[in-house]
Amino acid sequence: MAAVSVTVENGIARVTISSPPVNALGHAVRVGLKEAAVKIATDEAIRGAVILAEGATFPAGADIAEFPDVPEPSHGEVFDMITALDKPVVAALHGNTLGGGLELALACHYRVAAANTKLGFPEVNLGLLPGARGSQRLPRLIGAEAALGMMLTGKPIGADKAEKIGLVDETVPAGTQDDAAIAMVTALIAKDGPLPRTTEDSEWTTKDRADPDIFDRIKADYGRLFRGVIAPDAILTCVKAAVELPYEKGVEVETSEFLRLLNSDQSRALIHVFFAMRETVKVPDIPKDTPLIDVNSVGVIGAGTMGGGIAMCFANAGIAVKLVEIKPEALERGLSVIRKNYENTAKKGRMTAEDVEMRMGLITGTLEMDDLADVDLVIEAVFESMEIKEKVFTRLDAIAKDGAILASNTSFLDLNHIAAMTKRPEMVVGLHFFSPANVMPLLEVVRGDKSSDSVIATGMKLGKALRKTPVLAGVCDGFIANRLMFPYMVASQQMLLKGTPMQEIDAAMKAYGFAMGPIALLDLIGLDVITFPGDVTMTGELVKLERRGQKLNGGFYDYDEKRRSTPSPAALEVIEKVREANGIETAPALSPEEIVASLLYPVINEGAKILEEGIALRAGDIDVAAILGYNWPSYQGGPMCWADIHGLGTIISGLEAMGIEPAKLLKEKAETGSSFT
Ligand code: 3HC
Ligand code: NAI
Repeated sequence: MAAVSVTVENGIARVTISSPPVNALGHAVRVGLKEAAVKIATDEAIRGAVILAEGATFPAGADIAEFPDVPEPSHGEVFDMITALDKPVVAALHGNTLGGGLELALACHYRVAAANTKLGFPEVNLGLLPGARGSQRLPRLIGAEAALGMMLTGKPIGADKAEKIGLVDETVPAGTQDDAAIAMVTALIAKDGPLPRTTEDSEWTTKDRADPDIFDRIKADYGRLFRGVIAPDAILTCVKAAVELPYEKGVEVETSEFLRLLNSDQSRALIHVFFAMRETVKVPDIPKDTPLIDVNSVGVIGAGTMGGGIAMCFANAGIAVKLVEIKPEALERGLSVIRKNYENTAKKGRMTAEDVEMRMGLITGTLEMDDLADVDLVIEAVFESMEIKEKVFTRLDAIAKDGAILASNTSFLDLNHIAAMTKRPEMVVGLHFFSPANVMPLLEVVRGDKSSDSVIATGMKLGKALRKTPVLAGVCDGFIANRLMFPYMVASQQMLLKGTPMQEIDAAMKAYGFAMGPIALLDLIGLDVITFPGDVTMTGELVKLERRGQKLNGGFYDYDEKRRSTPSPAALEVIEKVREANGIETAPALSPEEIVASLLYPVINEGAKILEEGIALRAGDIDVAAILGYNWPSYQGGPMCWADIHGLGTIISGLEAMGIEPAKLLKEKAETGSSFT
């Protein structure tokens, strides 16, 4: 089917968009819509039109894959042609009416929406703004405040709310929107009245113009969303223009701001992340028709920090879980932590008391591993000790039914060794959750040498079912995210020893975009969790002083009752002591740029090695793992995308200056002028 087709019946043109999977407004659709607009204008038999879309959704936006070069005709030009028509045009909306799709809807004279429609401007999530007149039309239709709410948060609203605020004219049951739009256009033709256009000033324009503080107020309300990113200010500039200037002048402002954003590093990074997030599930060597294993019941061994969170993930997805412990106290503690977590969620109003009971009802505690004989999947989350894991897997092999998947949540241990404890290594896989497992969105699916295609494909599918982003990893010490970030943590400790103050290190990484710097992060994770190599022994020394971080007595920082931190005199003494014991000389404190380079270049180098060794399938997977596992700021694109933007040559010279040998792949990419992403 053509991307856009036009049929005419009873004087009404039915313009149908068909561009699967999401009807994105790529070049062919724009050309088709432009031709349709010309036909509607010039064909005397046509007295009105509806614009609708086949498949699951009205256009979900511009075709992001075209960016940053958008071939003519531009979206805005086509949309303006539709608005200018003097025959009524009604949009029939359903599904995800987002970005350019919503701009197309705004270009029509009226909008009918199926009850299941979601309407939104998610451009800000791509470092962009609604650049096809959306920033100019929406404030005229619903007012600057509501329009900015949608554009700054990027969150879509439902059809009902859209009707309430005047964004759509009529909401109808799903599936009837096309007929309803035709009925509306038929009535409009009969009425032959003036057509409303979102290019014209409105009551809202007058009202917003008379409100001198409106933009300061909105900026204060949404202040958090402006941190580190450039799109929100550009959005504000455009909406100000919509309120203060005539449409044509506002469009000039919008176009120039949109192009500035489209060619920015932040938008390049965020668009990379959009596609990378969707690509992780694609495993090139596993055929699409690989049979999946049904997972309807699950066993989790160990009800500690991870086991409890993992059990919650399954209960949240409606899958029954048996939770196995060795000691009754541990089981009781584990179950009560789970209950407390659910009850806290209920207290915040994000779950009902019935939900709590329903989910708890899906989790059965047991002290008998034999109870796992009938489950489809077992996830082991016992202490990180090979000796214990060997025993658990030997036993599990004797108990689990044929065809059951046997998974380990190990962070660092050799999955192939664990698999070798069983007579069915092809059924063994790593399912590496991040702490807290019920919250963190990353799942590393670790492929052992012998893991079968079915087991891997099921692991990836399961990740999605648990609403996580699965990333495939090979076997190595730390897999992707932990291995990648270990050099970052080590470098931060070395930096402390060389004399850069902890608060300056943390501030520089916060300014880069992390929620907290590496020293504060260590305090949060717990100083007893990571063991550092060589002469970097501060965490061990602090643990000896019973300082384990935020959870016990503070760590590098002291914390007051409001969790405000100040560098701890005890920690400063420890740093001094370790420095002296190892004969380390202090150097002048590093600048913020030097801190970022010294901490991140080693991460890039590790990422290059991870890629070179085939531990990650693609650079984008590494970026996703860092963003979802370690809160790497997505507007920096993740480590590999950031490296490409920052310059591979610069990173190589920086590594050499630090005495670190650059990875082979990094050098190759730099020498051939290519990039990771
Ligand atoms: N352009 C190009 N491809 C797109 C796309 C878009 N706008 N939206 C989705 N796709 C692709 C995805 O990459 C994916 O491809 P794949 O199957 O090859 O991996 C496929 O469509 C299906 O997407 P999802 O897996 O995300 O499907 P879901 O059903 O989970 O979600 C969705 C659907 C909510 C529409 C989600 O895809 C989405 O949020 N899309 C992006 C929406 C967006 O950001 N729109 C604004 C674009 S910018 C713009 O319009 C600028 C304008 O103002 C000028
Ligand atoms: P934990 O110490 O909180 O919990 C381990 C639990 O396993 C304890 O309750 C213990 O009683 C139980 N257990 C020990 N042997 C058992 C056996 N034979 N049968 C049944 N239960 C047994 O440990 P945590 O932090 O939950 O770690 C578990 C695993 O998850 C480790 O392999 C760890 O490396 C991994 N992991 C930990 C993360 C973290 O941040 N804590 C993150 C990701 C993975």
